Amino acid sequence: MKILFVCLGNICRSPTAEAVFRAMAAQELPQLALSVDSAGTAGYHAGEPPDRRTCEAAARRGYDLSALRARVVEARDFETFDLILAMDRQNLRTLERRAPAHARERLRLFLEFAPESGVLEVPDPYYGGQNGFEHVLDLIEAAARGLCAALRTGKGLSIPRAD
Ligand code: 4NP
Repeated sequence: MKILFVCLGNICRSPTAEAVFRAMAAQELPQLALSVDSAGTAGYHAGEPPDRRTCEAAARRGYDLSALRARVVEARDFETFDLILAMDRQNLRTLERRAPAHARERLRLFLEFAPESGVLEVPDPYYGGQNGFEHVLDLIEAAARGLCAALRTGKGLSIPRAD
């Protein structure tokens, strides 16, 4: 099972989702062979490490983002990944435009896995203050828990065939 998290720049939200979900899945689903990655729909920050504020907020909750580097979504990602989870509707729409028809059912909003949060989008924290980064972490931790539960039970997940 291969999962890709996608935001705009791949320096704030999606690398956070990658690190949080990887850590949670290692704890909760050690038996599952999961491959986890993240990418951005825009390439402004390609090759860069995650945003310093993102790294600091994540580190305070025990997540290490220091090895991650930003990259842009590529055509082959639509073949490689079973589930492609967008942080907001704008990025979901961009993915829908770029994806071949057979891959569109692999695209979802990540917060569909956190219905209790009452929102479907992880807001872009880039131009905001410190609270924005904590809010991003709260939402992502909730959705990562929900995704782990969906993978454990199979409920709420119709995983499309990769072929
Ligand atoms: P991300 O946040 O999509 O969560 O990585 C952003 C990072 C950079 C920019 C926008 C959003 N930017 O405009 O450079």
